[in-house]
Amino acid sequence: MSNPLQAAYYADDAQQVDAKITENRLLARETFLVRLVAPEIASRVVPGQFVMIRIHGLDDPLIGRALAVYDVHSGAAGEPEAIDLVYIRKGKLTRYLAGAAVGSVVTVWGPLGNGFAPDPCEHLIMVAGGIGQTPFVAVAKEALGHQRFGQRQTGWAKRVSLVYGARSADLLAGLDDFAAAGVDLQLCTDDGTRGRKALVPTVLEEVLQQSLQNTSAAAIRVLCCGPEIMMEKASEVAAACGVRCEVSMETPMACGIGICFSCVAKVRQSDGDWDYKRTCVEGPVFPAEKLCWE
Ligand SMILES: Cc1cc2nc3c(=O)[nH]c(=O)nc-3n(C[C@H](O)[C@H](O)[C@H](O)COP(=O)(O)OP(=O)(O)OC[C@H]3O[C@@H](n4cnc5c(N)ncnc54)[C@H](O)[C@@H]3O)c2cc1C
Ligand code: FES
Repeated sequence: MSNPLQAAYYADDAQQVDAKITENRLLARETFLVRLVAPEIASRVVPGQFVMIRIHGLDDPLIGRALAVYDVHSGAAGEPEAIDLVYIRKGKLTRYLAGAAVGSVVTVWGPLGNGFAPDPCEHLIMVAGGIGQTPFVAVAKEALGHQRFGQRQTGWAKRVSLVYGARSADLLAGLDDFAAAGVDLQLCTDDGTRGRKALVPTVLEEVLQQSLQNTSAAAIRVLCCGPEIMMEKASEVAAACGVRCEVSMETPMACGIGICFSCVAKVRQSDGDWDYKRTCVEGPVFPAEKLCWE
């Protein structure tokens, strides 16, 4: 399949598997890490891609839910064996998942979406709010050369920072994983219980100004994931500094493979007009300047 207008084009590399849960633990308040044995997906996925997930044998919820791939875990032979997902307990699927026992099975299909491109830069600044940090452990590991995902190159950034904000300290999840990967952590909380008592775009502006003292704007990249209002403001900060910015959208999805158009976002075209693009297959990562924020 070579026609990018066909859903099969995007799903060509995806597999659907019934995956066994081997770990399901609390990482932070209401936030869990689940490990699913799915070598077919673990060997293909690249940072920023996601999977769709359903509860095996149940039809409520009927529609799958999208979760970003947090990390890939290798087995004893060193081959990719399992995927880690980090989720916040919220509605039907995530409540069920939080109570799922080790050894139980979920249906998962992926990898899906485009992911973040491994474009070389000197300073990679990842920007996350809420549960938006989930794609960034894999991004950091690849960018700093610690782990290969799929067949992609590694070591494409000289240094990596994470500007990460949450309502309060107990919601910040995965900090140890970022620290172990060698990421410079710039934390903020709404209530000041950890890091700066500030909003994410404010901290991003400070990190960018600092970076621009010894790095050219062209050698810095900003990647964002989280609430749309945060990404809109963060992308304005990056644009004001002349720094390239990409955002990962979390529009609700039904099929995940380009068929239902439930996930569309307004994206600017080269002629200046806009068109709806399916976040699941033409995203979730878009150049920030192309998005029409609403
Ligand atoms: C590409 C992509 C990647 C994503 N990655 C992640 C990820 O890595 N981790 C993650 O946690 N999420 C992620 N999401 C979001 C995730 O798909 C949704 O949060 C998920 O649909 C929740 O499913 P659910 O069945 O638990 O909630 P649903 O039952 O579908 O609830 C849907 C919505 O109803 C509201 N709602 C329902 N119950 C409650 C409640 N008790 N309190 C407040 N609001 C409520 C919320 O607005 C909620 O978003 C991602 C989404 C996309 C599109
Ligand atoms: S979720 Fe169906 S087209 Fe995107």
